[in-house]
Amino acid sequence: MIRLNENYSKLKASYLFADIAKRVAAFQQANPDRKIIRMGIGDVTEPLPAACLEALHKATDEMGRRETFRGYGPEQGYAFLRDAIAKGDFQSRGCAIDADEIFVSDSSKCDVGNIQEIFANDIRIAIPDPVYPVYVDTNVMAGRTGANLNDRYEGLVYLECNEANGYVPAPPSQPVDLIYLCFPNNPTGGVATAAQLKQWVDYARANKAIILFDAAYEAFIRTPGVPRSIYEIEGAREVAIEFRSFSKTAGFTGTRCAFTVIPKDLKAYDSAGAAHSLHALWNRRHSTKFNGVSYPIQRAAEAVYSPAGQQQCRALTDFYLENARLIRGAVTKLGLTCVGGENAPYIWINTRRDSWEFFDLLLNKAGVVCTPGAGFGRCGQGYVRLSAFNSRANVQEALERVAAVLK
Ligand code: MLT
Repeated sequence: MIRLNENYSKLKASYLFADIAKRVAAFQQANPDRKIIRMGIGDVTEPLPAACLEALHKATDEMGRRETFRGYGPEQGYAFLRDAIAKGDFQSRGCAIDADEIFVSDSSKCDVGNIQEIFANDIRIAIPDPVYPVYVDTNVMAGRTGANLNDRYEGLVYLECNEANGYVPAPPSQPVDLIYLCFPNNPTGGVATAAQLKQWVDYARANKAIILFDAAYEAFIRTPGVPRSIYEIEGAREVAIEFRSFSKTAGFTGTRCAFTVIPKDLKAYDSAGAAHSLHALWNRRHSTKFNGVSYPIQRAAEAVYSPAGQQQCRALTDFYLENARLIRGAVTKLGLTCVGGENAPYIWINTRRDSWEFFDLLLNKAGVVCTPGAGFGRCGQGYVRLSAFNSRANVQEALERVAAVLK
């Protein structure tokens, strides 16, 4: 009799965004004429930057000619893209990251979900609350937690993020081995200062811990001095893995390209206390389980780093940030408090009522989809997240509809 992985039974029935999609589909079926405006999942709406599109076309044509056709590429990514990333995202900002420390992939969600495989099962894990659900769920699947009681999995150290700490948690008083951090934050839109990140890097060095730093939204940072990479912090090369994505930076949610940075200085220890390179381990895992991102997509991603690509991506993120500004203004005018939206595409709203009740109210009365904060963890109860990824016309219409319902 084949047995299943019973850890899956500890999970909530469905993944947060799948759950929301199901509710929205049911509403649409019952109200086929209602135009629904989706401000739930952070999915981009604006077309690819022209520089990326041009590179994609050119590379696609290359695949159609014998002389320029390519088969399997390197699992870790083509050198042209790894070089462009190392220079454009790191070396140009004073971070000593080499091209061969970059692993190109098709998804930051997959990388951040898969990375836990290279760590032992009995490690102590610190996870913020509220949080992107992938960090928690993948550790539950791997059997690193007990049951879920009152929206908390036994065995995890939760780092509460709230108005009082400005949504940036401080290191815990007890030692932990693996720490998940995300800045600019999903879902709150908060950012961490260099001093706050330094506390975490120092903590990780003192405890021989590893920080998993999700920087998928760094392209939205506008406040001068806010770090865009954890490697801007001294000592981070020894303790941090960084995840980046082209999804939100360059509108690649449907195109698929991301990367993970694993510095060669990073070490984890075996049961005898001997140090091993995490770069070597991840390289082993990546080349065993992944066959690389397609050549045309990597060329499209490379174009992000051209002068035209940089300017076009900036215009794209500026566009969504203007949506965020409109959302913040409208929400505040309705007498609700909110954070985020200044260095991030998400606005975190204190609804002063149950998150799912507010979600249902917006869906049923305004035809607008938000993400209930409670879906990101216990500390998200009472909040909802609005995404700024939408057309200007949809944002304006959604805000008018919401105002009509809440007034
Ligand atoms: C979100 O809405 O939180 C993100 O779009 C989800 C993701 O990037 O996987």
